[in-house]
Amino acid sequence: MFPHTRLRRLRRRKMIPLLAETHIGKDDLIAPLFFDETAVNPIPIISMPGQYRWPVSMAEEVIIMLNNAGIRAILLFGIPSVKDAEACGAYAPDGVIQQVIRAMKKACPEMAIITDLCACEYTDHGHCGYIGECLDGPGLLNDTSLEMMQLIAVSHADAGADIVAPSCMLDGMVSAIREALDDYGHHEVLIMSYSSKFASSLYGPFREAAGSGFSFGDRTGYQAPVSNRREAYRESELDAAEGADILMVKPAGWFGDIITDIKQIGLPVAAYQVSGEYSMIRAAAEKGWLEERQVAMESLLSLKRAGADLIITYFAEDVCRWLDE
Ligand code: PBG
Ligand code: ZN
Repeated sequence: MFPHTRLRRLRRRKMIPLLAETHIGKDDLIAPLFFDETAVNPIPIISMPGQYRWPVSMAEEVIIMLNNAGIRAILLFGIPSVKDAEACGAYAPDGVIQQVIRAMKKACPEMAIITDLCACEYTDHGHCGYIGECLDGPGLLNDTSLEMMQLIAVSHADAGADIVAPSCMLDGMVSAIREALDDYGHHEVLIMSYSSKFASSLYGPFREAAGSGFSFGDRTGYQAPVSNRREAYRESELDAAEGADILMVKPAGWFGDIITDIKQIGLPVAAYQVSGEYSMIRAAAEKGWLEERQVAMESLLSLKRAGADLIITYFAEDVCRWLDE
């Protein structure tokens, strides 16, 4: 007790770095990237300043640039030239993402290539699988969509993906994907499941970036309700039982309790700082209302403190630069 105990002693300038309980390092970061099959030059994403839809022809250049910055892992999203009801572009052998993976693998074999495994960027209706008649009207069909996820997973692994990251929130997705990968000899490919993914409004800017807005309905029929902590835990617990290698919480910043909870399961945990979280910080910084670097680092450090082992963030490249300064 005071006056013997003085916590301010711990905050003497030279003590602070020595006593830091958590750190952000380049090894913690995963950089999301968008590749657009129709792009000829990089297309700036208006709602996510500093982010681009890259043309496939720049895959080598982009991966070498990130590797030089110190990034060790990337998360790939593809925007196909044609969308249809069956998401054929998602598992075409020469689809946008398959081309990008092959080019990157060749240019930079040391980079861990993670692919977002979903159908919503590839379907004309914008939902994450096959649509059909459900009890409450048209909706996402679960079990037939699992077969689509198996096709996509195998085609990503065939192209050279190191980790597939299913984001569709279908029941049974992890075991279905594990089975398909193993059947096709991809035992070494990891599954990073978007295991506790919420039906959040923070994905707004992403849907402009990926052109994956939906033509009807929303994702509340498959993504978890923001109000439910125990249900979110059960989602991750089930994915772990089905064989996921890495769990994920998404969005990240407002879901620190969920990160702390699912850390108990024992698997590595990734936190996805989503488009809306990024754009809020960027927009406030552009207005001069917040100091971008400080706020961004604080947001990421908070995720480490909550228990995240890995952080998916659109700030990844900036963080590498800041850490070098
Ligand atoms: C695809 C997917 C989405 C995001 C990642 N994968 C969109 C969605 O679920 O609607 C969002 C990422 C972000 O907002 O940064 N299912
Ligand atoms: Zn989706």
